[in-house]
Amino acid sequence: MHSSISRSLLLAATAPVVFGQNITVDNTTVEATSDNVATAAEGVSTTSNSTASYFSSESAQLTDSVIANLTGLNLTGIDLFGFDTTENSAAAKRGVGSICKHMPGDLLYPNWIIWKVFDLLLGGALMQPVPLAAPCYNDHPEETDAWLCSYITANWENNSYIHSDDPTSIMWPLYEGRTCMPTDYPTDSCTQGAYPEYVVNASTVAQIQLAVNFARNANLRLVVKNTGHDFNGKSAGAGALSIWTHNLKSVEFYEDLEFGGYAGPAFKLGTGVQADELYEAANKYGYTAIGGEGRSVGVSGGFLLGGGHSPMSSMYGMAADHVLSMEVVTPSGEFVTASETSSPDLFWALRGGGGGTYGVVTSVLVKVFPKTEVATMTFSFSTGTNVSADAFWAGVRAYFGYIIEYVDAGCYEYFSLVQTGADSYYFGMAPWWAPNMTIAELKELVAPWFADLEAVGITVEPEYQYFTDFYDAWYAIFPLETAGTTVMKTASRLWPKSSWDDATSLNATFEAIRETVELGGSVLAFNIQGVGKAIPDYPDTSISPHWRETCLHAILAAFWDEDSTDEEIAEVSRTLTEDWMGIWRNASVGAGSYMSEGDVDEPDFQDSFYGDSYERLYELKQKIDPWMLMYTPTGVGSEDWYVTDQIDYLTTQNGRLCKA
Ligand SMILES: Cc1cc2nc3c(=O)[nH]c(=O)nc-3n(C[C@H](O)[C@H](O)[C@H](O)COP(=O)(O)OP(=O)(O)OC[C@H]3O[C@@H](n4cnc5c(N)ncnc54)[C@H](O)[C@@H]3O)c2cc1C
Ligand SMILES: *[C@@H]1O[C@H](CO)[C@@H](O)[C@H](O)[C@H]1NC(C)=O
Ligand SMILES: *[C@@H]1O[C@H](CO)[C@@H](O)[C@H](O)[C@H]1NC(C)=O
Ligand SMILES: *[C@@H]1O[C@H](CO)[C@@H](O)[C@H](O)[C@H]1NC(C)=O
Ligand SMILES: *[C@@H]1O[C@H](CO)[C@@H](O)[C@H](O)[C@H]1NC(C)=O
Ligand SMILES: *[C@@H]1O[C@H](CO)[C@@H](O)[C@H](O)[C@H]1NC(C)=O
Ligand SMILES: *[C@@H]1O[C@H](CO)[C@@H](O)[C@H](O)[C@H]1NC(C)=O
Ligand SMILES: *[C@@H]1O[C@H](CO)[C@@H](O)[C@H](O)[C@H]1NC(C)=O
Ligand SMILES: *[C@@H]1O[C@H](CO)[C@@H](O)[C@H](O)[C@H]1NC(C)=O
Ligand SMILES: *[C@@H]1O[C@H](CO)[C@@H](O)[C@H](O)[C@H]1NC(C)=O
Ligand SMILES: *[C@@H]1O[C@H](CO)[C@@H](O)[C@H](O)[C@H]1NC(C)=O
Ligand SMILES: *[C@@H]1O[C@H](CO)[C@@H](O)[C@H](O)[C@H]1NC(C)=O
Repeated sequence: MHSSISRSLLLAATAPVVFGQNITVDNTTVEATSDNVATAAEGVSTTSNSTASYFSSESAQLTDSVIANLTGLNLTGIDLFGFDTTENSAAAKRGVGSICKHMPGDLLYPNWIIWKVFDLLLGGALMQPVPLAAPCYNDHPEETDAWLCSYITANWENNSYIHSDDPTSIMWPLYEGRTCMPTDYPTDSCTQGAYPEYVVNASTVAQIQLAVNFARNANLRLVVKNTGHDFNGKSAGAGALSIWTHNLKSVEFYEDLEFGGYAGPAFKLGTGVQADELYEAANKYGYTAIGGEGRSVGVSGGFLLGGGHSPMSSMYGMAADHVLSMEVVTPSGEFVTASETSSPDLFWALRGGGGGTYGVVTSVLVKVFPKTEVATMTFSFSTGTNVSADAFWAGVRAYFGYIIEYVDAGCYEYFSLVQTGADSYYFGMAPWWAPNMTIAELKELVAPWFADLEAVGITVEPEYQYFTDFYDAWYAIFPLETAGTTVMKTASRLWPKSSWDDATSLNATFEAIRETVELGGSVLAFNIQGVGKAIPDYPDTSISPHWRETCLHAILAAFWDEDSTDEEIAEVSRTLTEDWMGIWRNASVGAGSYMSEGDVDEPDFQDSFYGDSYERLYELKQKIDPWMLMYTPTGVGSEDWYVTDQIDYLTTQNGRLCKA
């Protein structure tokens, strides 16, 4: 760090120092560049505790010697960027006596000079973004732009990439507070809501370490956003500093990697890599990767950290089962390798304990599997002239009878069950995914069910397709996911295989699901298992044990009208969480729910989302993050905190984060 220039720039400049822009100091204009202002990072060796070496983004680190140099600078607030040491009492100074994280406007919130210093140390990666839909609003005169507004409005729900490419936008704005939706009424107001105040557009580990240290020492709320897919507002937080991991896009392929007991092909993935990018890369080298169904979902962020289910799960188990190592900035600011041999407790917690909880992951090393052929089929049936509601439900009940057989065969079926009117219903299968099968084999597998359907007068006309590899099948069969809606809330249940042991409990399962559809709920479900047919042994991770017992991951959605009041929405939400899901819980006592596709208001979320892993996860959370730097709604330890200004059953992150 060139201390003379940076110090004068910082202390004398009257506007934030931004790289590439001119700053006037003592009547002299200079351009802030990497030549005159060095960032707070040191290039270290790329050797990792894992076989896979660091990406270049990971060898730029915040080291003790960088900190020593910083401490030597006489800069306002410089003590806020150090690691957690006894000498560094910044945390104590800023945090003590506060039961809430500091918000903009608070007396102890960092002033503008400190944010300037932070941006300087980051090398200009600090942003103060406005909400994505700000161009629609007159109260954002600098952004107002009718063309951009109409583009954002048109793409808000059908193009999830506009949200993943934005530093703060999330795909379920309900949990943000709906404070800046696309609108035709430019005189309405657009406010920041739970969109974070500041964002670090991370491209190095050093930047992430600085942000973690700063947020911890300055008692700020910290958010990590990757793509913004999270269903519960986990990648949002009012007044927060956010680390945006989206641009960590490196991908490295290892043909013959040896690590721990493993020898075989693997990918090292930057945490910003999205499913479509991984699948494309894996296909290029002739392998099958384990990611989610959606195209723009992040792979090594919330997806893997929550366990991750895949179209390949009935065959190979959970995605997090196949992680060999992870590189992580912990809440203390240190950068460590997590694997079976390096920080093994952290490694256990990261594989299933949830995103945004135990550290900021910068990359993961994952196994990949051989190229696989896939047969698919899509079809639907509904009530109509020749199909009564009773016949319809008999057809669905027949399907339930085969569910175990289908997952045992390695299949994954993504189906929906919807009430379309009084006593009329729709069943959609889109798609049935049959890995390692030909069309003929798939037809043979489903023939008994289709015969049952015929017997009750339901004829289906499936569209079959066959693909020689995962990528082509996945690309053809899964559409770009929708996003952005604010008229729906979801909850879910991992129905246990044990309910299929006898007809009474199977009937109870089916009747519970039928009843909620008759009440107006929409079901989106996965016939899937969390223990792979081809690999019955799975490693010891924190993935919820409920996943190992399930054969049906069912999501239940409730809807309300666009113009509903907050009270009306809260009532629908309450009905979903308590009444409808109460029916499901009563029919599956002891089962759980998938944290990454669950209900933010889930009762007893600890057992539901984490099962028997919770106790150890909670203990590790106290050890690894005693500051609760990394809070997420329904995250481990979140029961000790709360967000202010809430309406019951309309939970958002638009409030102050305080200790309970
Ligand atoms: C359309 C759609 C399809 C989906 N399909 C599937 C599916 O097939 N299978 C499945 O299992 N799930 C699926 N999900 C759920 C998905 O796994 C979760 O939404 C997941 O949290 C997304 O992770 P993300 O990193 O992309 O999103 P984000 O919302 O950006 O992050 C989610 C959480 O992870 C944390 N996080 C993100 N990156 C990091 C990081 N680098 N280090 C630490 N914490 C981090 C965030 O803080 C947040 O808490 C789907 C979701 C949607 C909306
Ligand atoms: C910055 O100032 C220099 C010299 O005054 C000038 O040449 C340059 O164009 C300016 N750059 C910007 C980005 O304004
Ligand atoms: C900067 O310029 C102003 C007006 O031109 C002058 O009054 C002031 O003394 C100058 N400051 C320095 C530090 O040179
Ligand atoms: C610390 O500062 C000295 C003097 O400016 C510089 O030579 C050295 O490279 C710096 N070290 C680090 C790790 O930034
Ligand atoms: C640090 O800077 C401030 C203000 O510029 C000054 O008052 C103080 O004496 C300086 N301290 C040291 C140790 O240089
Ligand atoms: C989304 O819908 C708009 C408006 O109909 C259309 O212009 C755009 O191409 C669509 N985008 C995607 C990704 O489907
Ligand atoms: C974020 O940083 C990357 C470089 O890592 C840059 O390419 C990108 O334009 C930046 N994004 C924004 C929105 O500033
Ligand atoms: C690497 O492993 C050694 C020995 O287990 C450990 O002391 C060290 O902290 C680890 N380093 C990182 C960066 O994880
Ligand atoms: C209903 O059944 C009748 C008699 O079998 C048949 O002619 C008709 O096409 C069927 N209608 C539909 C919608 O399948
Ligand atoms: C795929 O099927 C073949 C037989 O058709 C079998 O030998 C092979 O083990 C199967 N692969 C997996 C991963 O199950
Ligand atoms: C389960 O339901 C089926 C029809 O849906 C019925 O025939 C059967 O008797 C029921 N079995 C029990 C044990 O309730
Ligand atoms: C669930 O079962 C309990 C205990 O039997 C009962 O009190 C409650 O009403 C049931 N809830 C629903 C939604 O059926």
